[in-house]
Amino acid sequence: MKIFLDSANLEEIDKASKLKVVDGVTTNPTLMAKSGVSLSMKELIKKISSLISGPVSVEGAATKKEAIIEEGIKLSKIAKNIVYKIPISEDGLAASYELEKQGVKTNITLVFSLSQALLSAKVGASFVSPFIGRLEDNGEDGLKLIEDIVSVFNHYQFKSQIIAASIRNVSHVKKAAILGCHIATIPYKVLAQMYRHHLTDKGLEVFLSDWQKIKK
Ligand code: E4P
Repeated sequence: MKIFLDSANLEEIDKASKLKVVDGVTTNPTLMAKSGVSLSMKELIKKISSLISGPVSVEGAATKKEAIIEEGIKLSKIAKNIVYKIPISEDGLAASYELEKQGVKTNITLVFSLSQALLSAKVGASFVSPFIGRLEDNGEDGLKLIEDIVSVFNHYQFKSQIIAASIRNVSHVKKAAILGCHIATIPYKVLAQMYRHHLTDKGLEVFLSDWQKIKK
């Protein structure tokens, strides 16, 4: 499974890229607003894309087909690895189809149902982002949605890659991996929890203390 970092924070992206386990980045307007830098959006996207060689998803604000296409073309010119993120809608699907035909990679976002994912795959979106955490906040089963999308995409051999998004904990990542989801986009806090285990900390403490007792 590929791991993307769900962040627009340059410090986090820099630290995560050095771990050599991160294959891409996803951002959204909320993450951009929280990034805490005084750079323009274009400069911030440029900087993020230089830190990570894999796909960097970037979202704009256009809502009508022609405007979405125009925005997608403009944003995709900022760097070679830009993927244009489009919230699902009738116009968004039509724009995704056109942009993919023109060679602009798209990521259909704010996906909360199998039918939305199916339509995103039908228009040829490179990525489809179902939101686990927000579904759970709404009392629904986010992981069941991932399971269903994985099964349907495999069944019909759709080329779109599924990004498990809105991940809140390590358990979400593990379950998405077990279900065969192509990608999980993970906040830095969760990524840092993935290599920790209290038994590792305890074991290391004992090893280091016993090391002192060995005659060297
Ligand atoms: C990523 O593509 C999404 O924008 C992100 O995972 C949303 O996460 P949130 O529900 O924690 O805001």
